[in-house]
Amino acid sequence: MNSCVVGLQWGDEGKGKVVDILAAKSDIVVRYAGGANAGHTVVVGDTKFALHIMPSGAIRDGVTCVIANAVVLDPEVLRGEIEGLAQRGIDLTRRLFISDNAHVVLDYHKIEDRLREDSLGNKRLGTTIRGIGPCYADKVGRSYAVRMGDFRNLDRLSETLARIVDYKNRLLAGLYGAEPIPLDPIIEKCRIHAQALCRYVVDTTEYLHTAIEAGKSILFEGAQGTLLDLDHGTFPYVTSSNSSLLGMPSGCGVSAKLVDRSVGIAKAYTTRVGEGPFPTELDNEIGQYIRERGHEYGTTTGRPRRCGWMDAVAVRYSARIGAIDEIAMMHLDTLAGLKELKICKAYRIDGKETTFFPANIDRLSLAEPVYDTLPGWEEDLRKVSRFEDLPQTAQTYVGRVEEITGKPVTVIGVGPERSETIVRT
Ligand code: IMP
Repeated sequence: MNSCVVGLQWGDEGKGKVVDILAAKSDIVVRYAGGANAGHTVVVGDTKFALHIMPSGAIRDGVTCVIANAVVLDPEVLRGEIEGLAQRGIDLTRRLFISDNAHVVLDYHKIEDRLREDSLGNKRLGTTIRGIGPCYADKVGRSYAVRMGDFRNLDRLSETLARIVDYKNRLLAGLYGAEPIPLDPIIEKCRIHAQALCRYVVDTTEYLHTAIEAGKSILFEGAQGTLLDLDHGTFPYVTSSNSSLLGMPSGCGVSAKLVDRSVGIAKAYTTRVGEGPFPTELDNEIGQYIRERGHEYGTTTGRPRRCGWMDAVAVRYSARIGAIDEIAMMHLDTLAGLKELKICKAYRIDGKETTFFPANIDRLSLAEPVYDTLPGWEEDLRKVSRFEDLPQTAQTYVGRVEEITGKPVTVIGVGPERSETIVRT
């Protein structure tokens, strides 16, 4: 049984909780795209710990973690995570495999990310400044890229880095008047990264196919959300990878045909960080209420997230393009105390109603949400463990999302703890 978990909104849907539930039934957890721009909090013993690159399966004994080809890997961040987990008694020896084809994020990518964002003023994308875009750009450009397999030959890597840093310095000085980046500290850091990480570097495609043939159960863990997908999201306000389920096969070399169960995660409302259109945004006291109750502040950057009503048009689109089997709806408890709740069931664009989400932002920014208004509930849902025990209004709310999206809601988050989750059969 292989499963895939993917976000259906603009990221931060609370995938970690569902990944956690499914990881308990999996032998291997695979991260297939993105980099240290993602973030999820895991609880180890009584301490909370943020992971950005490491698949969340890391905290489960006996679960193997794979960081696949299409991840852009910041070695400094990953080493910090490996060391942090080791200090908490979690050893990843023979439990972590990193693709030799995964591209490496180095300091100059982060510098470039910041310089570009700063230079764009009100045209900035609102990136996480983790070097994601510049690293993927180097991957596509090919001539100035470094991959994890390159750490195996440090002499050759030093020559490559000399060429890259020279190119970057000319580029960044020309475009932004930036100070030159010294080469030696980058080479020195790479030596340390290589020493710490080479032991984990393998051909993960071969590893995964061997595991599949041996009948192992794999969980593919998406990062960010479908609406941030480079090709299918709200470009240019997206990340630089295929963060939808469509990125899974190319990201790790395993066909989507081999996924038996695909779960799309959506919050009971909508959030987004960074810039870009957001039809159901609530730039008012209701948005503020949701932000505070849902602790809607970024795990990676701490930025306040923009909050809005559930956009079922967007969720339906994401579920469709990923051929999602079921939806996990997180944070239902956050909506308690609101008299009325709205669900966006269609958009009005140029006077015409449509139920299809236009990912093109010129059209999306014209979209006026068409809402269903439903009564809210006052009750605290945290102790509810069966769907039938939810207030009738909460059941109706979930049912309406199922009707509009055409997908069953099989998991419902009713509180931050792992146990505060309703699993419907
Ligand atoms: P980048 O991925 O750092 O280049 O950022 C591009 C856009 O994606 C920005 O709007 C970020 O806020 C957003 N983004 C990237 N990663 C995440 C995430 O894990 N959750 C939510 N938004 C994200």
